[in-house]
Amino acid sequence: MPVVGKSVPRKDAWDKVQGKARYVDDYSFSDILYATTVRSELAYARLNGIDTARALSMPGVKAVLTHVDVQGKNAVPLVFEDEPFLAQDYLRFHGEPVALVIAESYEEALAAAALVKVDAEPLKPVLSIREAIAENAPKIYKDDNCFSRYNIKKGDAETAMKKARHIFEREYETPYQEHAYLETNGVIAVPGLEDSMAVYGTMQCPFYVHDAVAQAIGIDRNKVRIVQTTTGGGFGGKEDFPSVVAGQAAIAAKLTGRPVKLVYKREEDIIASSKRHPGLIKMKIGTDERGKIVAAIIDYYIDGGAYSTLTPIVLWRGTVHALGPYECQDILIKSYGVATNKVPCGAYRGFGSPQVIFAGESIIDEIADELKIDPLEIRRLNGYKVGSSTATSQIIDQSCGLMETIDRAAAKADWKSKWQAPSSKKGSTRTGLGISTVYYGVGLGAGGKHLDRVATSMTIMKDGSVHCAIGNVEMGQGARTVLAQIAADALGASYEMVNVVETDTALVPDSGPTVASRTTFMSGNSLMIAAAELRPRLLHVAKDMLGETRDEDVELIDGWAFSKRNANGQRIHFKELAQKLYAYRLMPSAFGWYIAPDSSYDKDTGQGNAYFVYSYCTNIAEVEVDMETGEFQVKRITCAHDMGKAINPQQVEGQIEGGTLQGMGYATMEEIRHDANGKMLNNAFATYILPTTEDTPVIDPIIVEHAYDRGPYGAKGFGEVPLMGIAPAIANAVYNATGKRIRILPIKPEKILGLE
Ligand code: MOS
Repeated sequence: MPVVGKSVPRKDAWDKVQGKARYVDDYSFSDILYATTVRSELAYARLNGIDTARALSMPGVKAVLTHVDVQGKNAVPLVFEDEPFLAQDYLRFHGEPVALVIAESYEEALAAAALVKVDAEPLKPVLSIREAIAENAPKIYKDDNCFSRYNIKKGDAETAMKKARHIFEREYETPYQEHAYLETNGVIAVPGLEDSMAVYGTMQCPFYVHDAVAQAIGIDRNKVRIVQTTTGGGFGGKEDFPSVVAGQAAIAAKLTGRPVKLVYKREEDIIASSKRHPGLIKMKIGTDERGKIVAAIIDYYIDGGAYSTLTPIVLWRGTVHALGPYECQDILIKSYGVATNKVPCGAYRGFGSPQVIFAGESIIDEIADELKIDPLEIRRLNGYKVGSSTATSQIIDQSCGLMETIDRAAAKADWKSKWQAPSSKKGSTRTGLGISTVYYGVGLGAGGKHLDRVATSMTIMKDGSVHCAIGNVEMGQGARTVLAQIAADALGASYEMVNVVETDTALVPDSGPTVASRTTFMSGNSLMIAAAELRPRLLHVAKDMLGETRDEDVELIDGWAFSKRNANGQRIHFKELAQKLYAYRLMPSAFGWYIAPDSSYDKDTGQGNAYFVYSYCTNIAEVEVDMETGEFQVKRITCAHDMGKAINPQQVEGQIEGGTLQGMGYATMEEIRHDANGKMLNNAFATYILPTTEDTPVIDPIIVEHAYDRGPYGAKGFGEVPLMGIAPAIANAVYNATGKRIRILPIKPEKILGLE
């Protein structure tokens, strides 16, 4: 393949590095108004009234909107519809939107917002998973404070546990994680003729936003258009939340009849937008004398916050992946998505997996340690190979590179010569090595399969350039580049000729969300379908131009057509083919519609083919710890990933580097703190500590390619995987260096010293 597998330059790179790319806040429209949000100061309260009179009398103010102004339905359409666009009856978390102030300038809106008086009667909030599941807990959601639950029952775990030679029981906790995308949430809603509404903004799921805007203002979907603007990062954080922002802006634009810009400051983005769910994981693992897992009983809780948003599907993914990539015939997993009076949690790279991976990869390290097995060997013993049966009894039938990722990472990190048991470590500065292995279901899986489809519209222009509109978005991950590579080779065009444009709901039908590491696979396949329809038309005109009589005697590669029988003869450029295509009046467009391979799930037992394919990785972290202060440094992380096929190896390496650093933040720095009343304390970059380039360790990315036969050129998905196993690799390395096991993230010097 001339384009696939090559590290071609990113389509969007030059504009971004030169500062030419325009993000939503860079746009304006004539007559534009500015909105700002009045938020709840309380974590839980009964809402008695909102006094907007003083705010309305302020200079420049056009409107102050509350729940009574919602023209459509005051409910954000996600899995359930429990979250209002603007609070009604109750305030359920600190930072919840209560009113919108619309003014001629942002400063005027801000000044007036301070004068909106919220009359609310405080109630006692529920602030943690343990509080929410306590027997006498106040009920803040239905009668059990639980948004959703799942069970996985494979074999008979209780009986198998009784027969196990060794039993290990441990509890782990994981914190919030804030996405910290550089571009905060924001949209501009622009009312059009005949009651139409266009919304421009930063987002991952324009079709979710489409649903939300139609519902918020109560108009037909054919009058709603969502246009994605250049998006400065998402990482899952722009999966659900833009529906809230866009719905609110559309309500304001419809009411005022003028364009409305609603762009968040960092502080309100952190306080109000979704986060990674805090997790509580109770693991009980039984093994035989050699460390082979024979029984697993796992209870998994996530803190969903005040509204369900994506909790039911985040929980489903975490439940399926709870044991990690290990064979076991007898498994019982129970999971709970719990309601609390805190910010709603949603998607974050890994989607309910990093929590259970931290637990699973920690306990297997603990088992190896107690049974005196090399942590690498216990993974080789238990890990998935082709033919393995997963927790849902799915047989892994192909494309399983887990063992190769272990071998390649171990070789590169020099595991054999470097790894020593913790008991042998001495001195005030100690080094340690830790490993984690990960598997990850690509796509939405059986839990969301009705949404797992995607559209492409592909048009060959008169000049031979190719225009592709797709249903998945570019959010900085490189989708436009990788998909242009796939389209180019599938069609026989050159990479330079193909332009994959940013997503616009007016160009393609609802293609589901851009999540779950599914874009390369899903949009790639839909481009292949469209290209397969156009290519014969190009071969047909090429045949005539080359003086051949049969289409099959013509080849078209990398922008040139030539005769297969006379490969050194005449060559015809794609541009001339395109002109002839138009002269012949052949249809220059095609539509691709790709539906994910089937998956299944039994809701009582959790058994079935949960995902159509899995990606795999192994991380090895090397740390250095000062035993007197507990300070530690992550020196090196080796990451071997099986993504089927690296369509663009440089982008794969970039994903590994970025995801690894995010994983390191999750492991060692990031946490959201609340006070005793549920107020978020650190909603700023000055107080929410993130790793920067200064903290970046040496990252060694390794590409492992076990092709998937249904993937475009063998590709699976992998964008989320680099983050997912970093925390346990580091925690295991810290244990290896110090003998101190950290079971509550983030790892901090205080915890290493046993002070916290
Ligand atoms: Mo992603 S965390 O599936 O938006």
